[in-house]
Amino acid sequence: MSATSDPQLQLVKISVFILSLSPLYEMLWYGLTGRFGAYPAWEIIGITGEASLVFLLLTLAVTPLRRWFGWNILLKLRRMLGLFAFFYASFHFAIYIWREDNFILSEFFNDAVKLPYITVGILAWLLLVPLALTARDKMMKTLGKGWKRLHSTIYAITFLTVLHYLLVRTWNPVDVLIYAAILTALLAYRFYYAKSVKEWSF
Ligand code: HEM
Repeated sequence: MSATSDPQLQLVKISVFILSLSPLYEMLWYGLTGRFGAYPAWEIIGITGEASLVFLLLTLAVTPLRRWFGWNILLKLRRMLGLFAFFYASFHFAIYIWREDNFILSEFFNDAVKLPYITVGILAWLLLVPLALTARDKMMKTLGKGWKRLHSTIYAITFLTVLHYLLVRTWNPVDVLIYAAILTALLAYRFYYAKSVKEWSF
């Protein structure tokens, strides 16, 4: 049975898709019930930024979880998880440019140069763009081994995101340290696997 005609897989995919929209429901709920504080745009930046980081880590967790528990279905969900990371990062970025710089390019470039956390955030987002553009199966076939190499940059992107978060939260880095610990564990697993099997895999 092909993947597209497997009803069980389709059901799982639709359920994961609906669940992945949770940050949007949260923001909608806040908006409808007046729960946003004095600066809704900043709260939206916070929610979407964190959502993007969570999706990056979930994407990275697919391979270890699949190997440990034999959950092969996770592989079929990885692309969706990665695309959600890109979606929330782009949402986050767009709200920032709109609220902070009013879509004025000179102000945006000024922030990009003057504020290190913005520089790092932009770099992370720029590196995410080629991954989103090459997410399709067709691109995987076209790029061959290069696809794997390109998509391995997700580790660097997640590292930059954690750094970006750390620069935002220098006054209270507890949450950031939890994310950093998860990323370190995922990376340690990849190095361990690469050493024992002599193959680096994304
Ligand atoms: C892959 C790209 C990016 C990811 C995954 C990401 C993720 C995050 C995360 C996790 C936070 C902390 C959220 C929180 O406080 O709960 C954050 C904060 C922030 N990000 Fe990003 N970010 C990215 C790119 C960018 C870009 C391109 C910009 C703007 C040019 C930006 C602007 C901000 C700002 C202004 C905050 C601070 C919000 C606050 O003070 O609460 N980010 N980001």
